[in-house]
Amino acid sequence: MRGKLMILLPLIVLELVAIVEAQHHVEEMQHSSNSFSLELIHRHAYMFNHNRPLTQHQRLKDLLRHDIVRHNITSHRLQHRRPAIELPLNPGSDLGIGQYVTMLKVGTPSQMFRVIVDTGSDLTSVRCRYRCSKGAGDCTKKGRINGKRVFNARLSSSFRPVPCSSQRCKVELMTLFSIATCPAPLTPCAYDYGYADGSAARGVFADETVTVGLTDGRKTRLRNVLIGCSDSYQGSNFNNVDGLLGLANTKHSFAAYAVEKFGRKFSYCLVDHLSNINATSYITFGSSASRNRVKLSGNARRTTLELQALTPFYAVKVRGISVDGKMLEIPMKVWDVTQGGGTILDSGTSLTYLTNPAYQTVMEALTMSVSKYPRVKLDAVPMDYCFNSTGFDATSVPKLILHFEDGARFKPHWNSYVIAVGGGVRCLGFLPARFPGVCVIGNIMQQNYFWEYDLTAKKLSFAPSACS
Ligand SMILES: *[C@@H]1O[C@H](CO)[C@@H](O)[C@H](O)[C@H]1NC(C)=O
Ligand SMILES: *[C@@H]1O[C@H](CO)[C@@H](O)[C@H](O)[C@H]1NC(C)=O
Ligand SMILES: *[C@@H]1O[C@H](CO)[C@@H](O)[C@H](O)[C@H]1NC(C)=O
Repeated sequence: MRGKLMILLPLIVLELVAIVEAQHHVEEMQHSSNSFSLELIHRHAYMFNHNRPLTQHQRLKDLLRHDIVRHNITSHRLQHRRPAIELPLNPGSDLGIGQYVTMLKVGTPSQMFRVIVDTGSDLTSVRCRYRCSKGAGDCTKKGRINGKRVFNARLSSSFRPVPCSSQRCKVELMTLFSIATCPAPLTPCAYDYGYADGSAARGVFADETVTVGLTDGRKTRLRNVLIGCSDSYQGSNFNNVDGLLGLANTKHSFAAYAVEKFGRKFSYCLVDHLSNINATSYITFGSSASRNRVKLSGNARRTTLELQALTPFYAVKVRGISVDGKMLEIPMKVWDVTQGGGTILDSGTSLTYLTNPAYQTVMEALTMSVSKYPRVKLDAVPMDYCFNSTGFDATSVPKLILHFEDGARFKPHWNSYVIAVGGGVRCLGFLPARFPGVCVIGNIMQQNYFWEYDLTAKKLSFAPSACS
C-alpha cells in the first residue's frame, strides 16, 4: 500500500523487550527526492493505553504544567542568546519535554526506542550503555537493563564514537555541552546536557545508523546520524521514554540531518488529541510525498519562515490579530524581534502564549462573545477564562485570524482557541507571557492543519486538513 510506513508498528511492541530486527529488507536511498514519516503518538495516548487513563481535565492540567515549565525555559534560552557575544548556553538552559513521542530504530542490527519528538531540542539521544562496569554484565545484555529499554552500543556494528581529540568535540559540539576532558585521543567525546527543570542526560556522542520507513514503503538507513548515547538520565522528563529526537533548527539536530538528505523540507499534521486520544499524527521529512499523504480541505497559504531570528526555534512574522474582521490594537513591538518580541511555532507547547500587551487585547475581544455563558473557575488550571458550555453555540465563536507580514492569514479552527476541557466546560486557550518575550503558537492552535517547513525557500505553508 502506498504511503504505508514500515516504521509504524503497533503500540503492542512497547510491551516487548527491545526489538532487535534483522535488516534484510533495508535498501539504501537512491534518490534524495524521497521522504519518510514518523508516527507521532501523543504522550496522553500512551498513558491512556497503559491503564492510567486521565480525565480530560487532568490531561489539560498536565499539558499546562508542561507548557509553563517549557515557556520559562524557552524565554530563558532566548534571553541568553541576545548578548552580542555568542556564548555556548549553560547547562540548565535547554528545553524540556515535548508532547509527542515516536519510535526510532537505532544501530546495526537495529534496536527500537520510544523517543520524545521535540522541535526545541538539538540533541537526539537514547538511553544507552557504552562504558561497561565490570561484572555487571551490562555490556553483553540486550533489551532491558533494570527494567528500562537500553541501547547496547557494543552490540551495534555501526556505532562510531566521536573522538574527544577531534575539532568536532572540542569546538562544534560545545553547543551540545561536550566536556573538555580528554584523557586519550580516542576516548569518546562526552556530554553533560542539562535541562532547566533539573533533568539531565550524560553520555558520549557517536555517529550511528538510524533506520526509518520511507513513504513508499521501503526502509532506509540514515548513516552517521549524530546521537547521544546517554548512560544516565535524571529527572521526570525521561520517565516513560527511552530518549529524545531533537528537531530544533540547529546544525546538529536530527531535523538538520534529515532535511539535508531528503530535500530540506519537513511537514506534519496534528490531529485533535483532546477529542480522540488514539488519533495518529505524522511528521514527514522530505518533499513531494508528504502533501499526498494528507488531503487538504482548503487552499494552502505561504509565509516567511525565519530561521535566524530566534534560533533554535522556527519563527514567523506575525503582524496582527483580528477578531471577527476587526484588527486588534496590539503594539507592533510584540511582533518585532529587534524590540524583544517575535513569534515562534512550537510542536512541544500545547496552548498559545501571547505576551502581555497582546494577551489582554485578544482575551477581551473573545470574552465578549462567550460572556453569556456562566463563568467557571477551574482548579489548578491557569487559563483565565473558562465557562459552562451547556447549550454552547459554536457559530457564536468569533473568527480569530493571525495576519502575517506578507499578507498570508492563518485562520485556526474555532475549537483550537475555545477548547473543550471536559465536564461541559470550555476555556479560551491562551496563556499570558511577559514582555519582552516571545509569543508561541502551540500545538493545539496548529491542530487539523497541515504544516510544511521549507528550509531552502524559508517558507512555511499551511492548509486546513483532517490529517488523513
Ligand atoms: C517560571 O518562572 C517564574 C519567574 O521566573 C517562576 O516564578 C515560576 O515558578 C516558574 N514556573 C515554573 C513552573 O517553573
Ligand atoms: C484507544 O485504544 C485503546 C487500545 O487499542 C483502546 O482500549 C481504547 O478504548 C481506545 N480509546 C478510544 C478513546 O478510542
Ligand atoms: C453547567 O450548567 C448546567 C445547566 O445550568 C448545570 O446542570 C451544570 O452542572 C453546569 N456545569 C458546570 C461544570 O458548572
